[in-house]
Order: sequence, then structure tokens, then C-alpha cells
Amino acid sequence: MSDVVLEFRDVLKRFGGTTIVDRVSFTVNRGEFFTLLGPSGCGKTTTLRLIAGLEVPDGGEIVLDGQTLAAPAAGICLPPDKRNLGMMFQSYAIWPHLSVFENVAFPLRVRRVPEPDIARKVTEALELVGLAGMEGRGATQLSGGQQQRVALARAVVYTPSLLLLDEPLSNLDVKLREQMRMELRALQRRLDLTVIYVTHDQSEAMSLSDRVAVVNKGRFEQVGTPQEIYERPRKRFVGDFLGRTIIVRGIVRGTASERWVELPGAERIAVPPETDAGVTEGTRVRVLCRPEEVTLLPGGESAPNQVTGRIETVTYMGDHLEYTIRAAELELLMTASKKTPQPVGAEVRLQFDPQAVTILP
Ligand SMILES: Nc1ncnc2c1ncn2[C@@H]1O[C@H](COP(=O)(O)OP(=O)(O)O)[C@@H](O)[C@H]1O
Ligand SMILES: [Mg+2]
Repeated sequence: MSDVVLEFRDVLKRFGGTTIVDRVSFTVNRGEFFTLLGPSGCGKTTTLRLIAGLEVPDGGEIVLDGQTLAAPAAGICLPPDKRNLGMMFQSYAIWPHLSVFENVAFPLRVRRVPEPDIARKVTEALELVGLAGMEGRGATQLSGGQQQRVALARAVVYTPSLLLLDEPLSNLDVKLREQMRMELRALQRRLDLTVIYVTHDQSEAMSLSDRVAVVNKGRFEQVGTPQEIYERPRKRFVGDFLGRTIIVRGIVRGTASERWVELPGAERIAVPPETDAGVTEGTRVRVLCRPEEVTLLPGGESAPNQVTGRIETVTYMGDHLEYTIRAAELELLMTASKKTPQPVGAEVRLQFDPQAVTILP
């Protein structure tokens, strides 16, 4: 069997005149935990519904395990029950009038699995999610976390090729959410499940995923490991969505063998070698960096990869200090240790790590 479980080729979905999924292509590999991360309304749920067969694409092709699920140009669109998928959507609560057993057994009954196999599979699935022996309970007698586990057992009970999870933890309180997050990841690894997970929560995406697709207005802005998208954002949107970024502007100078970005005060930051080939002499660029990669030094003679600035405000944050610093004609927000506090008005230098900056045109 091929390593690719799911493939999107130029998939397009419109509602009315609005493009919701904008010619998206990606693949998900066997055993992978793949997350769609993006703000509310960016098209994450619609993407899952296209996979599930609850929406019909307007263009492109969706392939699962080598089988074409949907290809409008060829007139193909398999109904949901002909797709071997497990689903757990935020809005798909468990059925309150059914027992735990019947809730979990439901997908097997739909697939006409023989009765003795149903009993065995339900018992196994409940064991997996830590609800062994709860078969006879009414669904409403369970706590929120237990109900979530029942929904998870129902989603994995018939060993789907692909498990679709749409913000499954968002109705839980913070503590339970973190616990369920770890359980979910452990279960996924144990069963070697292939998962597509949807969330708008960046820490959830970072902690759970093998790879993350950052989605904005129906487009996949960047797909990569949590580390890649955090440390090497290829778009401003990606950098901002995943946490704080420090951004300064300048113009690229130098030759192919050695380039740097010249900042307004004639200071310079070296261009890392892996920078996009489109960044050449004279290009106006932004230099992006995570605040934790920038070191705050006391004022003094500026060296390469340093930017001088002046502290405008200092805010006490309990375990650290937060400074706003005017530097390179911009206002930058920096956090720093309480050990060597700097007063308002102090001149400082920001030491950039040239290995940790991203240059964007
Ligand atoms: N059935 C529909 N008809 C019209 N517009 C829809 C429909 N479903 C979703 N949308 C719109 O598509 C956009 C993306 O929705 P959705 O995929 O639910 O986003 P997300 O899950 O990322 O929050 C939203 O603007 C939403 O209003
Ligand atoms: Mg949604």
C-alpha cells in the first residue's frame, strides 16, 4: 500500500459567489497526525465536509487510498457511507437517548457488521478510550469528558482509513482539554491512525501534530512540521498566527556570495543562505524573527546583526518584563528577564540571530 492516504488536487469549493476552499492541494501520509489550523471562517470545516462527502467540490479531485472520492469534472462523488472515514465533529454530540454501547455500535450497524463482531469491537473501542465496563450506561449519565470519549470510541470503532476530527475538544474546560489532548495523541500512535484534525488553537496544533497546514481565506498558506511553520514562516500571516513576531523593514544589499538587509539607520542584518532566490539586491524586504531569538543588550557601539533602539515603556508582567522599543523606525514589543532591568529612555541594542531570521519580500 502506498504511504499516501489522502490526496487533494486543486480542490475548489464555492458557496454562492464566494470561494471557500481555493484550489487546495495536499497529501496526508499513513499514520500521520495532520492539522488544519486557521481562524474561524477560513474554510477548515468545509474542507473536512468535502472529505466526508457532506459537501460536493466545484473543482479538483479528492483521492482516498487510491480511490477517487470526488472529481466533479468526471462526474464522480461518492456518498458519505461509501467512504471509509471516522468522524468526530464538534456539533456531532452523542445521542442522549441511547446507551454508551448503542452509541458506539451505531457505525457498525450502519455497515451491517454481524452482531457478535459488534459486541467485540464495541468492547475493544471502549477499552481504548478508558471506558471499559460502561456499556450499559445512558449517555446522559456521563461527564463531559466521558461523553467526548464515547464520541471518540464511535469514531474509531470500525478502523477507518482516515479519522476526521473537527475541534473535538473545544467544548471542554482547559484542564480536561489538555488531558484529552494527550490521550488522543497516545491513542493515535497506538492504533497508528491517520488523522486530520481541525483547530483554531495554535498550541493544540503545535502539541498534537506531525504536520500543520496554516489556512487563511480558503488557501493553505504553509504546510510543515510545527517547528518549520513556527521558526520559518513563509508568510506574514503564518508568523503572526503562530505567536509574536518581531518585524523590521529594509533593503537587500550585497552580492550573491554575501547579502545583508540594510535598515533605516544603516545597520545591517545578514541574509540567511536558504532565503528565497527572489530576494536580490535592491528588494524591499521584511525581516521576521521570534522575540525569543532576539537578545537585548545595553547601549553601545552597534555591530553587524544588531539594531539600536530606545526603550519607550516598561511593563511588569510578574515573571518577566515587557518593553516597547523604538528601533529601525518601528515600535517593537520585547519580553526580557527581570535580572537586568532597563529604564524608560535607555538606549539598547537588539542582537538578531542571523540563523533564526526569515526574510520576506
Ligand atoms: N452551507 C454553506 N452555505 C454558505 N456558506 C457557507 C456554508 N458553509 C460554510 N459557509 C461559509 O464558508 C466559510 C467557511 O466556513 P467554515 O468552513 O465553517 O470555516 P471554519 O471551520 O474554518 O470556521 C464561512 O464564511 C461560512 O459562513
Ligand atoms: Mg469550523
